[in-house]
Amino acid sequence: MGKFIIEGPIRLNGEVEISGAKNSALPIMAASILSSGDVSLKNVPDLGDVRTMIDILNSAGFKVSFENNILSIKKADKLNSNVPYELVSKMRASFNVLGPLTVVNGEATVALPGGCSIGVRPVDFHIEGLKKLGFEVEQQHGFVTARKPKKLSGDVNIYLKYPSVGTTEHLMTTATLMKGCRVTLNNVALEPEIIDLQNFLNSMGAKIIGAGTSTIIIEGVEKLSGTDYSIIPDRIEAGTFIIAILASEGTGKVKNVIPSHLDALFEKLREIGTKFDILEPLREVHIPRNNLRELSGTDIDIEPYPGFPTDLQPQMMAFLSLVNGKSVIVENVFKSRFLHVDELKRMGARIDIKGNTAIIDGGVKYTSAPVQATDIRASAALLIAAICADGVSIINNIEHIFRGYENVIEKFKKLGAKIEYIKE
Ligand code: EPZ
Repeated sequence: MGKFIIEGPIRLNGEVEISGAKNSALPIMAASILSSGDVSLKNVPDLGDVRTMIDILNSAGFKVSFENNILSIKKADKLNSNVPYELVSKMRASFNVLGPLTVVNGEATVALPGGCSIGVRPVDFHIEGLKKLGFEVEQQHGFVTARKPKKLSGDVNIYLKYPSVGTTEHLMTTATLMKGCRVTLNNVALEPEIIDLQNFLNSMGAKIIGAGTSTIIIEGVEKLSGTDYSIIPDRIEAGTFIIAILASEGTGKVKNVIPSHLDALFEKLREIGTKFDILEPLREVHIPRNNLRELSGTDIDIEPYPGFPTDLQPQMMAFLSLVNGKSVIVENVFKSRFLHVDELKRMGARIDIKGNTAIIDGGVKYTSAPVQATDIRASAALLIAAICADGVSIINNIEHIFRGYENVIEKFKKLGAKIEYIKE
């Protein structure tokens, strides 16, 4: 695994253009399996996880081409619905191809996704939901096989015990082609990426309503046409850059943002006293220089959307360590998403962990250190800390960051960061 060598402290300054949303592109690519025509997707970010999903679609028999952020997916003559283990083990979101492959092909087998550094990440809600849709689902030897019943009909009512993003997307997508069925999903996730998925499916002729609310209703249809669709901007990438510019006492313009997707972040940034301007019509956030000494800590409960997003928790923790006073972050989405804490402490952060709660004693000045990246968002948090740290830091295992951020080195260098990437 390679490393970043980062010299700090640097005050970031300039403009950054946000890419398409990774967590919208991935479920939409899985849902493209349902189409009986060709699918063209615009504003798709060129990053590791998208490349993995392209490999999965190619292994299923689709012909996928990708350039200039436009993904063209040509229908497979013959669908292979056994997804190789090594692809699923690379990325958990690939599990979401199980339902669409099964509903199209009658049967499919996908490896159980591995855990990762932010927790065990089971798929029990997915399996439970597919069974409630009427599918036979069995697990053996680390694989899950699903079979479509001969007859699918009538109304199905499913209540999710947790508003799981992936489960909502998986069941909504699978139900789309269950002709003769009306599926009601209750207590679903409310994330903007769910609305994007509904709009994508409906652009192919699906009949889905309710995304963005707690109840989604899907009228199963026989067939879906091809489509030409554009992915929404990545709210987590946008939040990462906004936090990075503020933490470095820099200035900047973050462009191609949908501000309403970041209300929870903006509320907390205001609470700690930062200044920034939201230009809704322009879809931009402008950040003047903020002085860390004038900011103070706050408390954050990490919750499903529209709450403060877990995918910005590590980055916000890196920032709150720099502002004066105490902050408390309670991580309510993942059981143990705190692997970045020990690494931030090597750079001088003062953080205590009690169960799923992080108590931050702020007002530190980061000093450089060698640290380890453990997942996409932890890598981003360490990058922010290293840019603010006095001296030359090394972030090992940095490849995680390329899974979730497009052109991350170029974008940060354009803002003035001093980053050298050593491939190993
Ligand atoms: C999606 O993961 C995102 N990934 C994650 O982003 C994000 O952190 C997460 O939603 C929460 O917002 C994609 O969209 C590709 P969940 P997902 O199902 O769908 C538990 C990133 O960095 N759970 O809402 O896996 C689970 O363990 C990634 O971009 C079960 O117990 O999230 C977690 O504690 C990281 N059983 C909670 O629910 C299940 O069957 C929320 O998970 C499914 C989930």
